[in-house]
Amino acid sequence: MCSIIGYKGQLNAAPLLVDSLKQMEYRGYDSVGIAIINDGKVIVRKSVGNVSNVTEKFNLGIMPGHTGIGHTRWATHGRVTEENAHPHYGCTNSIAIVHNGVIENHRELRNELIGLGHRFKSDTDSEVIAHLLESYYAKKDIKKTTIETCRRLKGAYAFVAAFEDGRICGSRCDQPLIIGSLDGGYFISSDVLGFLKHTDKAIFLHNRDIAIIESNALQLFDFEGNAVNRETTQVAWEGSSLDKGKYAFHTLKEIHEQPAVVEKAGIKKSGKIKEFCDILGDTRTVYITASGTSYHCALIAKYLLSNLAKIHCETIVSSEFPYTLESIDNSSVLLAISQSGETADVLEAARVAKQIGSKILSIVNIPTSSLARMSDSFLEIECGPEVGVAATKSFTAQLSLIYAIVDRLCNYVLGFQANKIFLAEASREVLDQETKIQAIAGKLRQARDIYLLGRSIHYPIALEGALKIKELSYIHAEGIVAGELKHGPLALIDKNTYVIIINPDDRTHCDNIISAREIKTRGATIIGISNKPNEAYDIFLKLPFIGESILYPIIEVLPLQILAYYLALIKNIDPDYPRNLAKSVTVK
Ligand code: AGP
Repeated sequence: MCSIIGYKGQLNAAPLLVDSLKQMEYRGYDSVGIAIINDGKVIVRKSVGNVSNVTEKFNLGIMPGHTGIGHTRWATHGRVTEENAHPHYGCTNSIAIVHNGVIENHRELRNELIGLGHRFKSDTDSEVIAHLLESYYAKKDIKKTTIETCRRLKGAYAFVAAFEDGRICGSRCDQPLIIGSLDGGYFISSDVLGFLKHTDKAIFLHNRDIAIIESNALQLFDFEGNAVNRETTQVAWEGSSLDKGKYAFHTLKEIHEQPAVVEKAGIKKSGKIKEFCDILGDTRTVYITASGTSYHCALIAKYLLSNLAKIHCETIVSSEFPYTLESIDNSSVLLAISQSGETADVLEAARVAKQIGSKILSIVNIPTSSLARMSDSFLEIECGPEVGVAATKSFTAQLSLIYAIVDRLCNYVLGFQANKIFLAEASREVLDQETKIQAIAGKLRQARDIYLLGRSIHYPIALEGALKIKELSYIHAEGIVAGELKHGPLALIDKNTYVIIINPDDRTHCDNIISAREIKTRGATIIGISNKPNEAYDIFLKLPFIGESILYPIIEVLPLQILAYYLALIKNIDPDYPRNLAKSVTVK
């Protein structure tokens, strides 16, 4: 996923664009660039590196001009090089473009344009947009130019282009593009975070919308050239500011925001929860789909809905959905869980289910996201912007909301609502052990392999902990059903192995101790995460006792997040921006 931003207004564009790209850098950060229009010229500055590096390299912030576009890249087509960084321009440097998504027919278009004499400088798919615009721009009619260009593009994309005469255009197809309107100017961005500091008035473009910004006017029309009218929405990110505050990294700040997230789960929009629960409760089978961390939440959702609410559930990881011959039909419900609401695999699964006639429910953090907009009903996790690429507070927010939903479906016998404040307090107690967990990270710094064991509702937490360790510290980690050890994984265990056992004192506890003893005889180092110590553990991480043991997942994930965070720091890795990853995987 990349960040695209454009600005045209009364202020100097460069410093605004640089700051916007900083706010959105979590979307992709292997290269950065901006193009400023000044005195009829398109001036492009771009390089490999993050926003700070490139800003410093070119002194981006002081480039003069009131119109410009900017981009941070997460490479999909073409290596991470300066030539492949955005903005791209055509042969005459009269138009510069920035792009998010994939142009599926870029090879065909590139060959056609080369046949017309165009010369390409990069090996990206995006550059074809610049040359196409240029090839249609001959008559200087920006509306016609943009329509002709958009009609040729295939794929999931959003782009913004700046013309030498100071006009900006943009269009979207299955990738977000949002106008931020303020006195004396407009932003056009892939994410509200790109302009939220300056305005909360947002216009969410629909698929196949085209926007043209000239002087102080905004025109919206469709691919047929018909004017379209889109409402202005007031957006707000409650409860969270965008800076790191007293924390070194967004990831640590967001880990510490989790007690507050638990406290407020399921409080607001109770009318919407009723509608959501009515649909859930009134169906034969619920198919739950998600990716990554959200999929681990889906596994817990299945456990709770099936065992407590007695609703038959199937979980399908979204990337597998197209290959799954599930019996999903028009009497089913698809519950999609996605923090960003823009994950390509999740959107694709929802589209397929919708075409079959299933009802679509979703749990999202961004109420204006593509997934929310295509759902029959959606609930927001309301945890504020999550900037760190590794999902932490959004996982806890998803989990808490699911507990709140199941609690409601079971007439509150689950005890989540009744115990929320206590759970938040228990979370704070766990987070207070940060220094101790940091020391444990020091002991694991040389680990080659870390295995995480769990049973029942704790197994998805073992998977989630393993994912956090992998994505933040690049150490191989694997979540395993503890009862499966003897069926193979035990062969991996030796004196160099580290095993984390998620073992609160519930009905899985004794079986886990047996597993711990099996592992101990093979010389592995065992870290026990439990409310109850045991001599089998070499290292013990105490959890507060929680009467309702089914609620432990909310707090037992916390030490694993902290551990992964400090493993990243020990290995001198930036936890906010792990290599090769992006916050939302908007391409398949
Ligand atoms: C989790 O830490 C990762 N960032 C990733 O697995 C993420 O959970 C996954 O891409 C799903 O994102 P979504 O919730 O926005 O759909």
